[in-house]
Amino acid sequence: MGSLLSSRSFTLCVLLVLMFAQKSTSRKVVTKDNQQALANTDGHSSSSHMMNNHMDPSEQIFFTISDLKIGKSLPIYFSYKDPSTSPHLLPRDEANSIPFSSSELPYLLEFFSFSKDSHQAEAMKYTLTQCELQPLKGETKFCATSLESMLDFTRGVFGLETNFKILTTNFITNPLIGNPLQNYTILKLPEEIYAPKMVACHSMPYPYAVFYCHYQESENKLFQVSLTGENGVRVEAAAVCHMDTSQWNRDHASFRVLKIKPGTSPVCHFLPVDNLVWVPDQLPA
Ligand SMILES: *[C@@H]1O[C@H](CO)[C@@H](O)[C@H](O)[C@H]1NC(C)=O
Repeated sequence: MGSLLSSRSFTLCVLLVLMFAQKSTSRKVVTKDNQQALANTDGHSSSSHMMNNHMDPSEQIFFTISDLKIGKSLPIYFSYKDPSTSPHLLPRDEANSIPFSSSELPYLLEFFSFSKDSHQAEAMKYTLTQCELQPLKGETKFCATSLESMLDFTRGVFGLETNFKILTTNFITNPLIGNPLQNYTILKLPEEIYAPKMVACHSMPYPYAVFYCHYQESENKLFQVSLTGENGVRVEAAAVCHMDTSQWNRDHASFRVLKIKPGTSPVCHFLPVDNLVWVPDQLPA
């Protein structure tokens, strides 16, 4: 199965992968990961994380567009997430029956049986806060708590007449246990994917699947990149290049990783495995 799927087969795939996760009994909240750097890829600075200067290895996903060459080696953090232990997508009815608001956090912690001081509580608070931030200028954002609401948001951006498809990052060979941060080499000329508009959805730490989806009017390029890691693992990665970074927060992780300043260069990043990019489907001529 390729990483480009029609919206219909994607629906099936997501349902299979994410709803199978219902088998797992314990409710987990995934740890904050490079999602944090990404949900903000567009300028919001995120509180404490941005204050300290130490480099988080999970921020090692940024590169510049000139790196997209065959044979180029880049240090990249790709963590494999076992779908059977990842939070599952709720059906819309069920998701809508649970409040999704930071003002309801005390109730939610009780509902999910998390103590006020737990990591889970911190993660939920983080996600709710991110979801409640005002969009940036030119940005449309939405936190989807179900597949149906994610599809509705995407349709709203692309219009009802447009077919769309999805791009993800996939491990092609078995993800070996090892350091998620390693050097990866670009195997083939990266393929640019037709993407006049795109909706990026980043998974957020929460007891059930929540995707922070956003659309920006600024120019972005989308690529599919074949990579091989030092340990031999093969990854088909989706990569987004933001061509104009002049409005981004100067404290954004990408500037630290790439040692550049806002607006001086396009910033590209690989998509973590559980993120999605929706693009209009270009019908064959
Ligand atoms: C990647 O390769 C460079 C050059 O060989 C090396 O200095 C660096 O430590 C490697 N990075 C990782 C994450 O292995």
